[in-house]
Amino acid sequence: PWERGDAEPPAPNGTVQQLPDVIIIGVRKGGTRALIEMLSLHRVVAAAQNEVHFFDWESHFQRGLPWYLSQMPFSLPGQLTVEKTPAYFTSAKVPARIRQMNPAVKLLLIVRDPTERVLSDYTQVLHNRLQKHKRPRPVEAVLMKGGEVNLGYKALNRSLYYLHMENWLRHFPLRSIHLVDGDRLVREPLAEMKEVERFLELEPQIGAANFYFNKTKGFYCLRDRGKERCLHDSKGRAHPHVQPAILHKLYRYFHQPNRRFFQLVGRTFSWN
Ligand code: A3P
Repeated sequence: PWERGDAEPPAPNGTVQQLPDVIIIGVRKGGTRALIEMLSLHRVVAAAQNEVHFFDWESHFQRGLPWYLSQMPFSLPGQLTVEKTPAYFTSAKVPARIRQMNPAVKLLLIVRDPTERVLSDYTQVLHNRLQKHKRPRPVEAVLMKGGEVNLGYKALNRSLYYLHMENWLRHFPLRSIHLVDGDRLVREPLAEMKEVERFLELEPQIGAANFYFNKTKGFYCLRDRGKERCLHDSKGRAHPHVQPAILHKLYRYFHQPNRRFFQLVGRTFSWN
């Protein structure tokens, strides 16, 4: 039996740890947790519980692939290992590093309306600040500077999808990256997940019985082998009210960048 001080905990019968076959690379606040939870409904999928931050955090990356492997879930040979770290998408050095590990890895990128994503990003940071008893910064003071969109606000850059996508496409062909429509995953999770199954060449297993709408939460929740569960309360939070004039400026700001992204990926989304 395994004892404290032994190098490794015991592996459940017949299971091994495997490097990921699939990585959810982002985007932060796109719906990445929902995506990995929904993917886990499939019996073939073994998902890492936590965000590993291997390719973007130097202190992790320096530990090398054996450390990365040690972060992976135990799975049976033939299962598909998946990890998600949303910060990968916007980190310039990550694509080359992932390619070096496995140029045939399959990548999932979930995107949502860039303006909505900014508000969701703001809301997450706001909650983190409140938790640490830091003073909240009003949304308008963060978004605007001198009456115009505050270009120094980092969350804006994360919503310039084309910028980051250009970098990924220098290292991976478009066919290696499946785009998940995060706005549609909220409304029609099954339809989106069927496309994910197809991209990953999985036997279709996820079905209507896996989802039910929870009126209190206002989102779909999951039914997994008879057990019902919703995502954590931090997923699906109300966003702050923003003056329409400011929202309008944000939408205008993202209009051209969105077009460039559509062109790059050869498809459009229902954003402005
Ligand atoms: P909001 O909290 O802004 O609504 P991530 O996991 O990448 O941080 O993304 C969080 C977002 O996932 C949430 O943003 C929410 O809109 C979205 N989401 C998609 N499907 C969901 C679901 N079934 N339950 C809860 N949140 C979901």
